[in-house]
Amino acid sequence: KQSPVIAPSILAADFARLGEDTAAALAAGADWVHFDVMDNHYVPNLTIGPMVLQSLRKYGISAPIDVHLMVKPVDRIVPDFAKAGATLISFHPEASEHVDRTIGLIKDSGCKAGLVFNPATSLDCLDYVLDKLDLVLIMSVNPGFGGQKFIPMALEKLRRVRRMIDERDLPVRLEVDGGVTAENIGAIAAAGADTFVAGSAIFHAKDYRAEIAAMHAAIG
Ligand code: DX5
Ligand code: ZN
Repeated sequence: KQSPVIAPSILAADFARLGEDTAAALAAGADWVHFDVMDNHYVPNLTIGPMVLQSLRKYGISAPIDVHLMVKPVDRIVPDFAKAGATLISFHPEASEHVDRTIGLIKDSGCKAGLVFNPATSLDCLDYVLDKLDLVLIMSVNPGFGGQKFIPMALEKLRRVRRMIDERDLPVRLEVDGGVTAENIGAIAAAGADTFVAGSAIFHAKDYRAEIAAMHAAIG
């Protein structure tokens, strides 16, 4: 298991002051920036794209940017995110016709690659591609919106992926996304996650630093 990473989801930030909010979360102890891309097609919501990512880089955000693509199709937007300065690009297997090819495209573009599993999506394809991935993301809500409640079934799924990663002794990160709070993050870490996305828990907190510290303390 790798050192814990807290990745605030900027979906819960104030888009009118995105640079300041993102910088504030990083200054308060966050490790990565989680960048949620929604297309009103694969998910019923619409957010931000490569131009906004590029603006964050121009603004001076140098932390890893963890792009969570909730878009369909996936492939044609990958090079744009790579050029804009993405560090890691994750996608949903249902949104790609050829999962192995999309992983290759992401890596050829110079980014790390992640695969995302919705609450009711089977982990079957992981068997074939786990060794090519840098990250597996387990959704603990149905994708599309921030501020939803953590689905406890995700814990069992995290335990299963943790076993797969450990059995094969792979340097793959295990990320969780949706409804993560300082209250439940301890149990989520115990289930095997090492990378934690939190949107509303961080950006709706009065004190980002205290919230992130409480999360780190609960992970132990
Ligand atoms: C949901 C997004 C999440 C979301 C998490 O589709 O992928 O990253 O912003 O927000 P919270 O932490 O508020 O559930
Ligand atoms: Zn996300």
